[in-house]
Amino acid sequence: MSNPKPEMEGDVYFPSHEVISQTRIKDWDKTSKEALKDPAKFWENEANELEWFKKWDKVLDDSDKPFFKWFVGAKTNITHNAVDRHLKTYRKNKLALIWESEDGKQDRTFSYYSLNREVSRMANIIKAMGIRKGERVTIYMGRVPEIVFAMLACAKIGAIHSVVFGGFSVDALQGRIADSESKLVITCDGSYQNGKLVELKRIVDESIKHCPSVENIIVIKRTGHDVPMEAGRDHWYHDLCSLPIANGKCATEVMDAEDPLFILYTSGSTGKPKAILHTHGGYMVGTYSTLKYVFDVNDEDRFWCTADPGWITGHSYIVYGPLINGSTVFLFEGGPSFPYPNRWWQLIEKYGITIFYTAPTAIRGLMRFGDAWPNKHDLSSLRLLGSVGEPINPEAWKWFFHVIGKEKCPIIDTWWQTETGSFMITPTPVVPLKPGSATRPFFGQEVEIVDEDGNQVETDAEGYLLLKNPWPAMLRTIYGDPDRYVKSYWSKFPGKYMTGDSARRDKDGYIWIIGRVDDVIKVSGHRLGTAEIESALITHPAVAESAAIGLPHEIKGQAIYCFVQLKPGFGQSEELAEELRQHVAQHLGPIARPEEINWIDKLPKTRSGKIMRRVLKARAQGLPEGDLTTLED
Ligand code: WTA
Repeated sequence: MSNPKPEMEGDVYFPSHEVISQTRIKDWDKTSKEALKDPAKFWENEANELEWFKKWDKVLDDSDKPFFKWFVGAKTNITHNAVDRHLKTYRKNKLALIWESEDGKQDRTFSYYSLNREVSRMANIIKAMGIRKGERVTIYMGRVPEIVFAMLACAKIGAIHSVVFGGFSVDALQGRIADSESKLVITCDGSYQNGKLVELKRIVDESIKHCPSVENIIVIKRTGHDVPMEAGRDHWYHDLCSLPIANGKCATEVMDAEDPLFILYTSGSTGKPKAILHTHGGYMVGTYSTLKYVFDVNDEDRFWCTADPGWITGHSYIVYGPLINGSTVFLFEGGPSFPYPNRWWQLIEKYGITIFYTAPTAIRGLMRFGDAWPNKHDLSSLRLLGSVGEPINPEAWKWFFHVIGKEKCPIIDTWWQTETGSFMITPTPVVPLKPGSATRPFFGQEVEIVDEDGNQVETDAEGYLLLKNPWPAMLRTIYGDPDRYVKSYWSKFPGKYMTGDSARRDKDGYIWIIGRVDDVIKVSGHRLGTAEIESALITHPAVAESAAIGLPHEIKGQAIYCFVQLKPGFGQSEELAEELRQHVAQHLGPIARPEEINWIDKLPKTRSGKIMRRVLKARAQGLPEGDLTTLED
């Protein structure tokens, strides 16, 4: 092993011999060097571990950059590799999915055999609703097993799923249904959040008032409370399941490797959310391979990613990656501290979780409650811990490492994005760790950190983070808007993928992510756009204009601060501020609730009318406002 390098700078945590001996790739440097010599060859070898109805004619087609194609000419289906192929092996009777309800009163388990039955049944029903290959289906649910079935069922028949996070509300859902022109929405009557009922079905009803594309709504009964059902349009899932069409096998559609698998809306710097498009072949290979190496999953593992399936982390590492690897996935309906701050630790003990993947915001939140809560539980099943969504501060890293991992579990800090589909900068279990650094690019990838003009910056200097090489799970386009795809990611620094993050590289080659360079706000790891928050505010009758910014927050990482200019006739008051906070929460979702509303007489703008968020940020933090020469007036 050429690692560890004892001469590395700063706080370094080296993997133990036990960890190294358990991990499949012991020599990171060698694998990385080989993969970099020919990334396409590396990915081809990975692809060869999966099943294809027909193999590719070409691994990578880069003749029409930045519209890259992977596994050109190949035929497959991601559900075939996530479910069907395991049925021919001992995994048929292995647990694929374990679920527990928020209140802990129910648990449900599914073997790969029963997962296939559930997915096939849902697929038959979706087909019977008239959904054909290439058509979009919106999925808007809480964390229940059916969300996993619905995604896999869409993929199985070649429909494109568009999952909308169940914590979003009317405005966000409506925009996403309308943009995707979904004919079918799959939802639940409701979900639970910290014991409170969330009215999912009613939110769907409200959202589709202006979405003429929606013909049918499938409703899964979760809460059992009363919800309106419109005859002919709304269907209870359990009623559909009792129809003859639901039963029997469902053929898995043969898909081209480049056929769309899903779209997932994410916030960008300006305008409406972007529909990020991923495909069957490349995304399948990417999620499979990254999870296999980065979390080194194997058959004995019980993998728990605490994200919501409605975000990319859930898509890639609750649903697709783990199931393609044949792992056992744990899905929990609730959050970290309800009813008590030991809820997660209790579940790790109860189910013998071996790999636990979560977000810095949750770690900081739980840390606050003290060590006694985790110390009440036997966490010895854990062998790896993971972090994602925002930079992890060293204090939280160390608490996670010492108190949860008992100093024996490496912390896998994975940097990636909705757009990248799979991990991009991340250690594997054998890589020496520095708390707060996502370490090094994954096999086959190289990064560049550059200044405004595209010149590489010096060691330790901050700059734009770019990815140099194409990779299989990369987004293919923005659905319906290829120009925006080129403009957003490939035009500022032609030929390289612009991540939208800034970062620095230290003298050991370790990457330290600093944060977004655009107007994306990461609230508790959730990605929100200032534009979405501002459009929610503007629908309130008192608001003339507004600007949202993200400011540092001890637990959430970033919190939303809004500056509001009122219409004449409206007075500034604490009551109105609270009303506006609630208005945003109600329209966009509780996660978007502003921390603070500040009144402003006039927003600082450039002469071309662009809000100068930099000035607002400085003002809000009592910092110097910098160069104001471009300010209008
Ligand atoms: C941030 C989530 C630091 C980053 C998978 C990125 C991170 C954005 C990390 C993407 C990390 C994600 N360290 N920052 N380990 N992981 N980010 O699309 O700013 O919801 O650009 O994907 O989250 O957010 P998204």
